[in-house]
Amino acid sequence: MNKNTKTLVFSGVQPTGNLHLGNYLGAMKNFVDLQKKMECIYCVVDLHAITVFQDPQELKKNILDTTAGFVACGLDFKKSIIFNQSSVSGHSELAWILNCVSRVGWMNRMTQFKEKAGKNKENASVGLYVYPNLMAADILLYKATHVPVGDDQKQHLELARDIAQKFNNDFKANNFFPIPEPLIQKKLSRVMSLRDGTKKMSKSEESDYSRIDLQDSEDEINKKIKKAKTDSSPIPDKVEDLKNRPEALNLLNIYSFVTNTTVEKTLENMAGKDFSKFKNELSDALVATICPIGKKIKKLKNDNKYLLEILREGTNKANVIAKKNIGKVKEIVGFI
Ligand code: TYM
Repeated sequence: MNKNTKTLVFSGVQPTGNLHLGNYLGAMKNFVDLQKKMECIYCVVDLHAITVFQDPQELKKNILDTTAGFVACGLDFKKSIIFNQSSVSGHSELAWILNCVSRVGWMNRMTQFKEKAGKNKENASVGLYVYPNLMAADILLYKATHVPVGDDQKQHLELARDIAQKFNNDFKANNFFPIPEPLIQKKLSRVMSLRDGTKKMSKSEESDYSRIDLQDSEDEINKKIKKAKTDSSPIPDKVEDLKNRPEALNLLNIYSFVTNTTVEKTLENMAGKDFSKFKNELSDALVATICPIGKKIKKLKNDNKYLLEILREGTNKANVIAKKNIGKVKEIVGFI
């Protein structure tokens, strides 16, 4: 990174359903930590959400719920900028320009599009296909330097770096866009489904039993963990022995992260035990971490006025930076 570049964090979360444990441990916990040491912009990415059809009433509700989730997890709207993407037009404007910088060959390599579009690729929206270019626009619109995300967004971040570089080269705008650095949790970069340890925990997974939502009650957490898939072997004493046991590894990873210890230490304490005992401890740890957040979300959800005020204040601040940067981009591209 250029020595004179001002550091700035940007990240986004889609308002497409309830925030879950994967969002929290993989991304939002990091958002909160970063807020203490850097300037941060956190965005409810509603333009991304509509790449798959959303019921308009549901979308409105989800934008506010996600904002409530941001605040309940510990984001401070006085310190960080919190807003929803569609309220700052610079995102769409820059996305179009970057659509013209990005290459079809680059898009065709995006694994998330292949997973989301599935077999019915011809029927996927064009928006879903160019979604990574919009994500690059989100980051570059603010000239952000650091982007906290879960491991599933790593490929999109690499694309954003390529786009920034190509824009700078094509327009001979040396260092105009900083090349953004991904910030991915080392200890737990991907929380996996509770039903299948080879798939990530996700909002779009049909079974509620595959994920822990931040608004789950103590009862629901206990039930979901009790039902979580494991195998018949006891807990081993070495991490290597978890190599072909994805569900076991996932639960042990979650427990270690939430209790702020290492998997090695957890295995030291738990080796030889069967999973039912371990699951009780895991449930207790999750209830202690998640339930206070869930309670705050539920309370905040009753105060739409407050949530709208947060978004309005964030939008105003975001717009100041966005307007300045998009103006400069237009000048560089040659628009009058
Ligand atoms: P989204 O809404 O799917 O997820 C929000 C954040 O949560 C992380 N995450 C996970 N981390 C670990 N384990 C999981 N199972 C898990 N599931 C989700 C995601 O990596 C993400 O950090 N395209 C993005 C949103 C976005 C964005 C951006 C992010 C739009 N523009 C610009 C950064 C910068 C997305 O769909 O995240």
